Amino acid sequence: MSLTDAPSRRIEVREVRPEELPWVRELAVRSVIHGIPGSRDIPATEVQRRARQAFGDLEDAFRTDPGFRILVAVDLDRPLGYLMLDLAHREASTGETQALIRDLAVEPAAWGSQAVHALVRQAARLAHQHGLRYLVGEVTAANRRPLVVAQRLGFVIERHQIAVQCGPEGLLPMPERPSEDHGASSLENCHE
Ligand SMILES: CC(C)(COP(=O)(O)OP(=O)(O)OC[C@H]1O[C@@H](n2cnc3c(N)ncnc32)[C@H](O)[C@@H]1OP(=O)(O)O)[C@@H](O)C(=O)NCCC(=O)NCCS
Repeated sequence: MSLTDAPSRRIEVREVRPEELPWVRELAVRSVIHGIPGSRDIPATEVQRRARQAFGDLEDAFRTDPGFRILVAVDLDRPLGYLMLDLAHREASTGETQALIRDLAVEPAAWGSQAVHALVRQAARLAHQHGLRYLVGEVTAANRRPLVVAQRLGFVIERHQIAVQCGPEGLLPMPERPSEDHGASSLENCHE
């Protein structure tokens, strides 16, 4: 690999500090809309409400689960993005323990800053230190930015998720995201 392995000049990656957890939670809730498949009509506000609940116990997981890590990319101590890592994930088909990127986001103002590359590289090093051979993640098909980044870094697509709507007579086409949805304008970022 070429450009993607060039060291970032100012960006450092380290473990999250407890006082940064509220920022992680807030960025996670803001970013969750990028993961909604374009084929679902659930309102973005509902997804964010659920995310707020799910990330509510972040602090607990952080304190009690040694396999759950949060890495933060910082530029002169200013947090740019985070990566949540599960070091005890099991691949469903092979049973191998591997590292899973549970969540990943960079502040929109820092998109293009290489923070994501630094985060993923550090996650891979950490996984290797724990004796793990693979680092995996899930990316929503319509969310082009992480897909482009992942492929540039050398990730391959291992699996496709398929979905259809169920009706009284059997299969129905999937709905689409409502254009009047509040989250739609933010969602455009992930289709750009
Ligand atoms: C995903 C994320 C971490 C990537 O970080 P980033 O700093 O935006 O990534 P980069 O800018 O380095 O790279 C994204 C690339 O995708 C390109 N891109 C964006 N939309 C694209 C599209 N529709 N088709 C092709 N390429 C596209 C960008 O132009 C950029 O390439 P460039 O460097 O040649 O300009 C960040 O966008 C983010 O936090 N997104 C919201 C949360 C999210 O989606 N998390 C991922 C969950 S899996």
